[in-house]
Amino acid sequence: MEVSDIKKVGVVGCGIMGGGIAEVAAAANYDVIIAEASQDLLDKGMRAIEASLALSVRRGKITDDVKTAALGRIRGTLDLKYFGDCELVIEAVTENLELKKKLFRELDGICRPDAILATNTSCLSIIDMAAQTSRTEQVLGLHFFNPVPAMKLLEIVKTIATGDETLRVARAFGESLGKAVVVAPDIPGFIVNRLLMPFFLEAIRLVESGQATREDIDRAVMLGLNHPMGPLKLADFVGLDTACFIAEAMYDEMKDDRFAPPVLLKKMVAAGRHGRKSKKGFYDYG
Ligand code: CAA
Repeated sequence: MEVSDIKKVGVVGCGIMGGGIAEVAAAANYDVIIAEASQDLLDKGMRAIEASLALSVRRGKITDDVKTAALGRIRGTLDLKYFGDCELVIEAVTENLELKKKLFRELDGICRPDAILATNTSCLSIIDMAAQTSRTEQVLGLHFFNPVPAMKLLEIVKTIATGDETLRVARAFGESLGKAVVVAPDIPGFIVNRLLMPFFLEAIRLVESGQATREDIDRAVMLGLNHPMGPLKLADFVGLDTACFIAEAMYDEMKDDRFAPPVLLKKMVAAGRHGRKSKKGFYDYG
């Protein structure tokens, strides 16, 4: 398969990541079908895609015509049976390995034999998902970053079974979306989260020990390292529940203390302080 053969992209999950992926694919002229588990979630996700495209129009990034055309290329569904003619499917469902393995089994039965199946997981083992299919060489990770339309990077995650042709087509697909591509290994955290998680966790340990304030930590990183957000603000943005889940998954796999979530993070998650989405994390967003 060549990237020019990709006409229809399937996206499973219409949350922040799935919706963002659908949006950038449609804006790059691919036909997109996006699946959700319920009509409510699908409607909510489609409204978010429309709002994000409208924001891009207001910011002068795209014209109103491009927005209308992109929306016209995205079709929502509750049924994966419509994914049969997709050349590429990207799943972006909840970070649950058993759920993802089941989904890959299902997609393998539905999708055309030459279709590439990808996961947007940020930390789970991709070969475990690929092993559920009869096409391990056509399975890989396409790890996008939030907010998908704004972030330049796409991590392409190559398992020990991913074929060279799949990798080549995935790279060309990422570039066709305007993303810069890096190839990462199928190890816990790939490249970005391998570096980001110890950074987050060390910042949280500094707060936990009372040695520095959250404001000083974030200011230090923003002004001293030129990051757009400090680690605590960014952890709130990613979601403290998500960050804790990723760290725990990496710790479980590697038994390396650098990835062990600090007690403070676990307590904040237990208290429902999930960051920006719950309006409370290291900062208040009320
Ligand atoms: N959709 C589209 N474009 C957006 C956007 C959105 N939701 N939000 C911001 N942008 C664009 C703007 O159009 C603007 O583009 P230009 O510079 O070309 O004009 C640019 O991003 C900056 O936007 P603003 O000035 O309005 O806002 P800002 O300066 O506050 O930036 C931000 C917002 C882009 C989120 C910035 O703060 C940032 O980059 N933060 C870090 C985000 C990050 O690190 N994300 C990765 C998280 S890790 C992850 O996702 C993976 C994982 O597995 C955990």
